[in-house]
Amino acid sequence: MGRSYAYLRRQIVPLDEAKIGVMTHAFNYGTACFEGIRANWNEEKGQAFVFRPKDHYQRLRRSAHILQMELPYTDDELVELTVDLVARSEYEQDVYVRPMVYKSSEELGVRLHGLEDDLLIFVAPFGAYLDVDKGIRCCTSSWRRVDDTGIPARAKVTGIYVNSALAKTEAVLDGYDEAIMLNNDGHVSEGSGENIFLVDRANRRLITPPPSDNILVGITRESIIAIAEEQLGYTTLERPIDRTELYIADEVFMTGTAAHVSSVVEVDRRLVGDGETGSATAELQRVYFATITGRNERYADWCVPVPVAVKAS
Ligand SMILES: Cc1ncc(COP(=O)(O)O)c(C=O)c1O
Repeated sequence: MGRSYAYLRRQIVPLDEAKIGVMTHAFNYGTACFEGIRANWNEEKGQAFVFRPKDHYQRLRRSAHILQMELPYTDDELVELTVDLVARSEYEQDVYVRPMVYKSSEELGVRLHGLEDDLLIFVAPFGAYLDVDKGIRCCTSSWRRVDDTGIPARAKVTGIYVNSALAKTEAVLDGYDEAIMLNNDGHVSEGSGENIFLVDRANRRLITPPPSDNILVGITRESIIAIAEEQLGYTTLERPIDRTELYIADEVFMTGTAAHVSSVVEVDRRLVGDGETGSATAELQRVYFATITGRNERYADWCVPVPVAVKAS
């Protein structure tokens, strides 16, 4: 049950009525930036919790700034709008919220300046993007991660996702679940839509690439770093990572709003550890899922409850 809604041109409409014209600049040139936010269903409470929406909107604002666009709403207005859309949709399952700031002028000519922009948001049901139980098999991609000197990966720009799509499709058609992209200098950057971590069990330490290695600085990444340190006693080291470190790490896992926390059990046909979800990853997964569904008191302020009483008008 449930019906998806969208916010477009400052109005809430059923998703199937939310349309843009074929000449829209963002559609022709990839000149938009977006977010992926989850509202996670808590079965016990019969209620959804939106995870860190304010942090997502702050990243959206930064991405929009890089593309010379404005987001003329306060964080509180954006969160309220998001909660309203999720509540109206009345899905009793996990949903994905996709806000986008896009160049809305219906006009030809590649540029960023002198164009109108707009905000759209839509809601759709969305389960786990990668396997979170038995783990995933990855390859290092032949496609290199876009560089900050080309298209800035720290901005979640729609056009950048051609880079991710090339890597993902190559990986899947070659029989893997996900791609791991290297930078132009050969260091590990990230998955096609996930950040990556290595586990050094003996030192209770996580290792992850720094923002300067062309990653999208993930909100799940940041959440995992906090949970690992504050609740599980793992420190995190941000440093460049060589490809072969993936082969010999105790554990490898990926993080992202879509992917949650997914264990990487194989890289380039080499087992990681014993080829099963490792103990640190399993521990992190347990606390992470409790956190995003509003069941971890320590991080209650990361979760915005969606009122159950609000019905579609
Ligand atoms: C390329 C890329 N890296 C990392 C992430 C993870 O970011 P987050 O945890 O904020 O969803 C995403 C997901 O949006 C992504 O698309």
